[in-house]
Amino acid sequence: MLSLTLRKWFQIDAPSAEDLAVFHENGYVAFPEALTEEGRQGLAEEILRCEQIVLFLRMTDEERGRLGKPHQMSVRPWNDKGPWSDLLFDAPLVRALLRATIGEAYHFCHSTLRVSMRGAGGLGFHQDNQPVNLAERHKWYIQMLYYPTGFRRGDAGLSVIPGSHRIADWGAYAPYGPKGEVVTPAFLAEQYGEQVGRAFQAEELELPPGSVVFLNARTFHAVSPKPADSPQEVRLFSNVIFKEPGSPHRNTQVIPPTWMERASPERKRLFEREAYTPT
Ligand SMILES: [Fe+2]
Repeated sequence: MLSLTLRKWFQIDAPSAEDLAVFHENGYVAFPEALTEEGRQGLAEEILRCEQIVLFLRMTDEERGRLGKPHQMSVRPWNDKGPWSDLLFDAPLVRALLRATIGEAYHFCHSTLRVSMRGAGGLGFHQDNQPVNLAERHKWYIQMLYYPTGFRRGDAGLSVIPGSHRIADWGAYAPYGPKGEVVTPAFLAEQYGEQVGRAFQAEELELPPGSVVFLNARTFHAVSPKPADSPQEVRLFSNVIFKEPGSPHRNTQVIPPTWMERASPERKRLFEREAYTPT
């Protein structure tokens, strides 16, 4: 563990003033190739070692065809971490971004991973900011998106609607509008363009392997399907989510006792918060 923490995981340890300005203006900022090659490979290997992913990739096409989503496997929460993914709780860049945005006090919410194969379906525009207490929707909820294999535009690619984090009174549950409308940039422009004072247009991203996106979960985002003839066999993805202190979100996970036992005082502060329970 010691040798890993001494190795470089990120190419950068802190955002620039311009990175932070872009984040506040657009609701997200991308860091292309932010991971070192060693970190990128370490994360990819740990995702591919996860038991549910191993079993999924071992299935025959016929076996996968019986699943609800035969071309992708998601794991939430992702608890079976190795030393590389463990660093994503509090690596220097992670800490610097969260402190600059939320301040000194913030909590780990949960983390997920997803493996998408050719033919995987997409995800429409949505927000992910759903605290149990909706009165806390103004509080920070941040997603750190890791793409060890990267993605091309339109190939399980992330799209965002810059500026849509500023919509103040969005009360609907993702991915639908207040009356069940499918969310599109045109719909947001019509309903909220005047309020926010800017045009809404989707931006289709394309990021090389090892890239990271720092996303305000109020920013509407979508994922395109993965074409059956995609040149990329699988897209690997992990999402590590942090929140401002307050009520749990629907996916705020229970912290495994082993994490708490070996946590440093700083990490304990990250983990000591209420988890979501259905009751
Ligand atoms: Fe999302």
